[in-house]
Amino acid sequence: MDQSDEFWWRHGVFYQIYPRSFQDSNADGIGDIAGIINRLPYLRSLGIDAIWLSPIFPSPMADFGYDISDYIGIDPLFGSMEAFDALIAAAHAAGLKVILDLVPNHTSDQHPWFAASRKSRDNPKRDWYIWRDPAPDGGPPNNWMSEFGGSAWKYDAATGQYFYHAFLAAQPDLNWRNPAVRTAMYDVMRFWLGKGVDGFRVDVIWHLIKDAEFRDNPPNPDFREGRPPHERVLPLYSNDQAEVHDVIAEMRRVVDEFDARVLIGEIYLPPKRLVAYYGRDLAGAHLPFNFALLSAPWHARQIEKIIHDYEAELPKGAWPNWVLGNHDRPRVASRVGQDQARVAAMLLLTLRGTPTLYYGDEIGMHQVAIAPDQVRDPFEKNVPGIGVGRDGCRTPMQWSAAPNAGFSTSTPWLPLADDFVHENVVNHEADERSILSLYKALIALRKKMPALVTGNYVPIAAEGDLLLYRRQGPESSVVIALNLGAEPVELQSDALGGEILLSTLMDRQGEKLDGVLDLRDNEGVIIGE
Ligand code: GLC
Repeated sequence: MDQSDEFWWRHGVFYQIYPRSFQDSNADGIGDIAGIINRLPYLRSLGIDAIWLSPIFPSPMADFGYDISDYIGIDPLFGSMEAFDALIAAAHAAGLKVILDLVPNHTSDQHPWFAASRKSRDNPKRDWYIWRDPAPDGGPPNNWMSEFGGSAWKYDAATGQYFYHAFLAAQPDLNWRNPAVRTAMYDVMRFWLGKGVDGFRVDVIWHLIKDAEFRDNPPNPDFREGRPPHERVLPLYSNDQAEVHDVIAEMRRVVDEFDARVLIGEIYLPPKRLVAYYGRDLAGAHLPFNFALLSAPWHARQIEKIIHDYEAELPKGAWPNWVLGNHDRPRVASRVGQDQARVAAMLLLTLRGTPTLYYGDEIGMHQVAIAPDQVRDPFEKNVPGIGVGRDGCRTPMQWSAAPNAGFSTSTPWLPLADDFVHENVVNHEADERSILSLYKALIALRKKMPALVTGNYVPIAAEGDLLLYRRQGPESSVVIALNLGAEPVELQSDALGGEILLSTLMDRQGEKLDGVLDLRDNEGVIIGE
């Protein structure tokens, strides 16, 4: 990729690495930075343009790195600052951008800032976190719930107040209404940008600002038993507050002090509220992550509506993006099934907007069942048995049929999928019709056909299990026809012409169409018009 290209994040393909699970290089069963460097040739061969690394900073690992105790260091589990610098250099030399996870909403309770803050009510760092007096009955200050179960307030006997934690009690929330906190975090950003990182994915960015009056959240009338307990209330006052957009605009200005960097926001909100995170005059996040497909019912008509609703809400000039998987949600291959995982890949890589792949989805990795005594995820430990566990989508990358799937020479920190002897990178590379080969072909086609990157999204009316759309570029256009069902579909239309550029089953390239298209079950095709 052209390193000076200001808009690389529009036409690039992003790839999320969960560093603990990608490649171990020092036989401790946990992936590390040197392991990522060793796998850069693989990432290049895949054709992706940017890697985003989940947190690699010093951390007690209560939430596997999303509890940071030093924002400008590297946890020894993952390597050293020298190793990180080597990764940046090697990735850039290979034409790959590197995006870091920024976790500004909360620190670890082991961070020196919090240690100071909890010491006394008059400590200069007191107001860096959110401290409140108990309610008159001595209980928590209000009814806000932790996303990981229970009250979001924890009493600290030393100073007789509660502190707020949107996630674990070991992850106290910073007070973003305090300008000193903002300045400190912007300096953290400058530190990494100065080292050459190409941008940030900002963790739970919509949580940064909370209601100034700490009003109770209203009950959720639609709450159902079996859902995570925090859904009992609607987060009306605890996140997505209007003032958050000023903070994000400030962050964006820090990013803009450097050339050609990107600001991505992690946001789980419906389309209308989500697109506000592009900011007024697009001065917010370049890419507010669009997670609509992560929970989409896998039906053609529903997905068509999801695409329509998102496209319809996008502000003028805002660049869209799509995500099929991440380290918090069940693997796409398990959500939609192995056959549809290919169709999902074609969808992700032919929609308008920057696609983000999750490591392992390109070889169809599935959700791994985790035995109760092997659970590592604090969410599952706090709220057991209702299916919120995230370990199953974080299992080690399946590189080969070697012991431990070539991930490590010792026992991995999470169990491997039982099918790794067959489903692994080596085997998929040898099979020209594997899902890995399909991903490569899709990414390569995207690079070759400008219509797939910059073309308009034009829906075409369809019924049943068929999802149909055109990507209309100024010079060329393609039609994408996806069969989301397990029965063949025949499509007749005088407008159907051209030739098949790619089928998800990878065996129809070059086939000419003349008014009729037969799609097999679970098949998608891209048609060059
Ligand atoms: C984000 C991360 C998730 C983490 C949480 C708290 O949602 O993706 O893994 O547990 O924030 O930091």
